[in-house]
Amino acid sequence: MRQHVNPLSKNFLEIDPIPPLYEIFENPKSSLHLDVGCASGDFLFELSSINKNWNYLGIEIREKLVQTANLKIKNREYKNLYFSFGNANNFFEQPKNKILFDSISSISFNFPDPWFKKKHHKRRVIQRQFINFLSNSMKKRSLIFIKTDVKELFEYMELTISESIKFKKLANKDFQYNKSFNPNKIQTNREKYVLLNQLKVYESIYIKI
Ligand SMILES: C[S@@+](CC[C@H](N)C(=O)[O-])C[C@H]1O[C@@H](n2cnc3c(N)ncnc32)[C@H](O)[C@@H]1O
Repeated sequence: MRQHVNPLSKNFLEIDPIPPLYEIFENPKSSLHLDVGCASGDFLFELSSINKNWNYLGIEIREKLVQTANLKIKNREYKNLYFSFGNANNFFEQPKNKILFDSISSISFNFPDPWFKKKHHKRRVIQRQFINFLSNSMKKRSLIFIKTDVKELFEYMELTISESIKFKKLANKDFQYNKSFNPNKIQTNREKYVLLNQLKVYESIYIKI
């Protein structure tokens, strides 16, 4: 069992601005997908090697994982992938990071830490304030994807996002994945584990209106 990182610790107040997109991506104008809590980045490595016409950015609070992932990019010369270290909730407070919203087409929250105890709910990555911020910053028609195997967390995330009138829930069955950041429906590591153990995956997609 890994030790969960407390995102409210003051170690995570500072976050590095990511370099300008033209320095990290070969085609900086391609659609950008942001994966929040990307862990070691396996999911994004797979996506980026298949979908060269998208750029992928992972945010992860465990610094070692980010360092290793960015080293792997350098060695193998991925041209549409980058990882950033820090608490995603503070990420956009960096004025230089706000500019990313011009490029972001979608954001995924895949199997976020559940923080089961009520007194720890404030450590969950999806917070009302964060959703408010995203609702005011994301471009119209950009998307949010949420996925978890924890029903209570799913209900909490759905409630928090649906409180914003600027996000509308899409019907999963009608969603055209072939036009999204994940046309082949690649699974994250947690998702593979959950499916192998025949647990249920709860998921929703929201569009910014
Ligand atoms: C349960 S793991 C899921 C990893 C991956 N998304 C998957 O589906 O396999 C949750 C990840 O989110 C990271 N995380 C938790 N809170 C975060 C935050 N506020 N900002 C960025 N990453 C966070 C954790 O360190 C962990 O790697």
